Amino acid sequence: MTARAGVILAAGQGTRMKSTKPKVMHEIAGLPILGHVIQAMKGAGIERIVAVTAPPHDAVRAFAASMGAESVVQDKQLGTGHAADCAAPLLADFAGALVVSYGDMPLVSPATFEASFAAREMPGMAIVAFHSESKAYGRVIVEGGYLDRIVEYKDADARERAVKLCNAGIMAAEARAFFRWAAKLENKNVQKEFYLTDIPAFAARDGVRCAVVEAQEGEMMGVNSRAELAAAERAMQRRLRDKALDGGVGMTAPETIYLSHDTVLEPDAQIGPYVVMGRGVIVRAGATIKAFSHLEGADVAKGAIVGPYARLRPGAVIEEDAHIGNFVEVKMARVEKGAKANHLAYIGDARVGAGANLGAGTITCNYDGFDKNFTDIGAGVFIGSDTALVAPVKIADGAYVGAGSVITKDVGADALAVTRAEQREVSGWAEKFRTRKKFEKAAKK
Ligand code: UD1
Ligand code: MG
Repeated sequence: MTARAGVILAAGQGTRMKSTKPKVMHEIAGLPILGHVIQAMKGAGIERIVAVTAPPHDAVRAFAASMGAESVVQDKQLGTGHAADCAAPLLADFAGALVVSYGDMPLVSPATFEASFAAREMPGMAIVAFHSESKAYGRVIVEGGYLDRIVEYKDADARERAVKLCNAGIMAAEARAFFRWAAKLENKNVQKEFYLTDIPAFAARDGVRCAVVEAQEGEMMGVNSRAELAAAERAMQRRLRDKALDGGVGMTAPETIYLSHDTVLEPDAQIGPYVVMGRGVIVRAGATIKAFSHLEGADVAKGAIVGPYARLRPGAVIEEDAHIGNFVEVKMARVEKGAKANHLAYIGDARVGAGANLGAGTITCNYDGFDKNFTDIGAGVFIGSDTALVAPVKIADGAYVGAGSVITKDVGADALAVTRAEQREVSGWAEKFRTRKKFEKAAKK
């Protein structure tokens, strides 16, 4: 296969977002917009990816690097053609096929990039177009089956404006030829910008024709405002849920479930209504997440039941057949096979051994204001309700802790530890108390 490179134009300010954050860093399904484009390019077998960025946007460059993409700086935003040309020095040694795309289109699929590469092979070049009623896009004029020209709406005449085939902003060509043409661009247009869309005209002069690949409008959605960001999020959520349902995941009310781009749901995982998945969640086959639970960085095994109203935070590992019930929070803790914490508990920096049972109100006191400390709860341990386990502390296998205890010292295997004051009974006390109170009230009248 011909080597593939991708250039992502991401130097725009995104002023309409009204945000201090660069537009491409706003997240969709827990991943910055730029990340979705990089991921789609990787999915299309593109090995070298270059993001074109604005000078102040260090965060964009750092993020690109974290996803294995290179970046260049476009000192001044002189237009999309100029932006693409900024990648030329970095790709000077690259001999292969190149695709250019905009950094604010998070819904483009790998298949669309793939299609643009396939379509360019024969004539030498390809662009992606879609049908739309919007006035925001350049018009794609096709003649004899190939692209004749792309006219920006602002530069178009009435007849060109009536054309509904629009330019997506994805262009594939042989890399060296592309940069040769990009170097020739001029800015003689209404916006005084170097247009990427003028490249096909230079290609035509070299006898290279440009194929037009048609894609769905839904994939081409660009993000320019908060409302468009929310619309793209909706579209992405629908896509993620549909993929999960196709993969055999059970969802009673999919439209209420929020997923992250990296959520792994195995077939026969069952997800109740109003569940929110942050980044890094794996729900394995045969696990159940009940309504209103919030999971992030958690791994839930087969047969485990989580929720309703549970919170799993990063590092929560819920093993087979374990139960995490309502208002239970788990962080950096392994809840081993068959263990149960069914009501109102905090399990942080801990291990809960197989088959252990934590009563309502069990709290691991893991933080002393300076350090996080570990609580080790052995297999088969029973912790009575309303118990504070002050870490670091170890409750050995099979031990019991009486309800209402504050445990500061290790407890031995199969022992009982109880720290509350002993119960005292004063017989007849209540009757005497009531009589005295009645007498006092009568005396006041
Ligand atoms: C562009 C296309 C138009 C297409 C539309 C699709 C051109 C001339 N026009 O118009 O045909 O229908 O997108 O959405 O290409 N950028 C830079 N540096 C620059 C200018 C832009 O990096 O100097 C980046 C922006 O960050 C953005 C992308 O390029 O991600 C597109 O730029 P934008 O100004 O939004 O182009 P449009 O006018 O929408
Ligand atoms: Mg735009």
